[in-house]
Amino acid sequence: MNRIFSGVQPTGNLHLGNYLGAIKNWVKMQDDFDCIYCIVDLHAITVPQDPVELTSNTREVTAGLVAAGIDPKRSIIFNQSRVAAHSELAWILNCFTPLGWLNRMTQFKEKAGKKRDNAVLGLYGYPVLMAADILLYHATHVPVGEDQKQHLELSRDIVGAFNRTYDRDYFPLPEPMILGQATRVMSLRDGRSKMSKSDASENSRINLTDDAETIQHKIRRAKTDSEPGMSYDPENRPEATNLLGIYAALADENVEAVALRYADDGFSNFKDDLADLATAKLEPISAEMHRLTSSNDFIDGILRDGAERAAAIAEPNLRSIKEIVGLL
Ligand code: AMP
Ligand code: TRP
Repeated sequence: MNRIFSGVQPTGNLHLGNYLGAIKNWVKMQDDFDCIYCIVDLHAITVPQDPVELTSNTREVTAGLVAAGIDPKRSIIFNQSRVAAHSELAWILNCFTPLGWLNRMTQFKEKAGKKRDNAVLGLYGYPVLMAADILLYHATHVPVGEDQKQHLELSRDIVGAFNRTYDRDYFPLPEPMILGQATRVMSLRDGRSKMSKSDASENSRINLTDDAETIQHKIRRAKTDSEPGMSYDPENRPEATNLLGIYAALADENVEAVALRYADDGFSNFKDDLADLATAKLEPISAEMHRLTSSNDFIDGILRDGAERAAAIAEPNLRSIKEIVGLL
């Protein structure tokens, strides 16, 4: 049985990068796989979080997944901290992960910055918790954006270490699925940096909660270059390339085809069409998110039910892992 597991952090607004790089693909996968989608609140606390905001962001991200089309009856949606087995397995896997592997992780280096000694242990161990998330459910496929590729490689290395130690094929090797036309959506203000929740500029990203007017405004203000016409050229025209990629992903078209169609148009015409397309695709999601977040009860019910169903898979698996390791 093929099983999908993926996660998203409840840290602030879901944005277009999350949607095109991850969530839009998650929706499609429900037809072909048994899917588990996790709001990774334990990953979120690897950097400082305001408790009240963390709770409300967890609800908001849940609403975002449901509004985007993830069906909580077919798929499991839950928050990580509710299923204690994630933390327990993470500890066990910590004991199979050499420091040298963690030292290579570029996301840790970026997030820790220059003051490496002040970075917390949780941030360093972040990829091991991610491996635990995946392996706890014996997931076979993991849909993520480009930025998570290295973490997934580490999960695969940990599987190797565990299976070799006990000389059996216990954990399946999880396959990364990096899908869609926009696996790395860039900032609207700088085509060379990733669209992210932590960018100080609101105009750098489109949030899934943005209304039509805000979406239009942000696209019209997006950075351009001075070349005539539109062309797909990641090296020399990162902004044009990013906007074309966003268009292609939203329209489910090939990016080269979109570039060809707009080859003789300037940014201005292209942006008008992109703004209309983005509004048509995103506004219904935003409206549904606002509707769903008007009552906590509905969202809390989804998370409660999801956690029960997740635990029913996770707990027996954790028991068998403990048996293998020799933990009574
Ligand atoms: P995060 O918000 O970091 O928890 O990411 C949740 C999911 O969205 C992961 O699969 C990421 O790879 C994906 N993602 C985040 N930012 C981007 C981006 N700018 N472009 C494409 N995918 C992204
Ligand atoms: N680290 C991922 C991110 O920031 C989120 C995540 C946590 C995840 N656990 C996971 C993704 C397991 C896939 C599978 O995007």
